[in-house]
Amino acid sequence: MQRQDWRTEPLTTTRSDDAAALYRLFFPQTWERPWSGSEFSALLATPGCFGYLLIDAVHDWARGLILLRAAADEAEILTVGVVPDSRRHGGAARLLEQAMADCAARGAQSLFLDVAEDNEPARRFYERWGFTTIATRPSYYARGTASRVAALTMRRTLSHK
Ligand SMILES: CC(C)(COP(=O)(O)OP(=O)(O)OC[C@H]1O[C@@H](n2cnc3c(N)ncnc32)[C@H](O)[C@@H]1OP(=O)(O)O)[C@@H](O)C(=O)NCCC(=O)NCCS
Repeated sequence: MQRQDWRTEPLTTTRSDDAAALYRLFFPQTWERPWSGSEFSALLATPGCFGYLLIDAVHDWARGLILLRAAADEAEILTVGVVPDSRRHGGAARLLEQAMADCAARGAQSLFLDVAEDNEPARRFYERWGFTTIATRPSYYARGTASRVAALTMRRTLSHK
């Protein structure tokens, strides 16, 4: 997969069930609670919430998504993911670039997210894109019944053209 073979399209409630199916592939771990299609629909209906699907333009398949919320001069990534067999081909980067342009157009100056301390791929990805850790919430995410890991809150500024 070449980087130019990706395209994005707005995530609408008509694709909520597809979004839920993708989400299960992003987070297959038993401790992750899946998000249902109706949860995606409910989120997309809330003010300021929007997202994009990542489409493999060669096969016209959805391979990833990003969901965000923007309010006033701040925006937050609620979730982002790419299916395992399509990772490390610039798909998440394509989603993030699209999302950051949209957030900036909506007036956001800063973009925030929460990531689990043990999610090394996501942390590396966000660091590459200029996010820095601004807060840590210890023992935030459960890992089975016996252990928990911290949530890191990361932030970057958005550029306005
Ligand atoms: C994090 C995630 C979205 C990255 O998607 P992706 O399509 O692989 O990312 P891209 O190809 O656009 O960017 C890859 C870059 O991110 C970083 N990265 C991604 N995965 C990495 C890994 N396993 N190890 C080290 N760095 C990694 C590297 O900088 C990499 O660049 P490189 O391939 O040139 O080394 C993907 O791993 C994923 O869907 N994970 C499961 C869902 C998830 O954890 N979402 C985030 C929740 S906060």
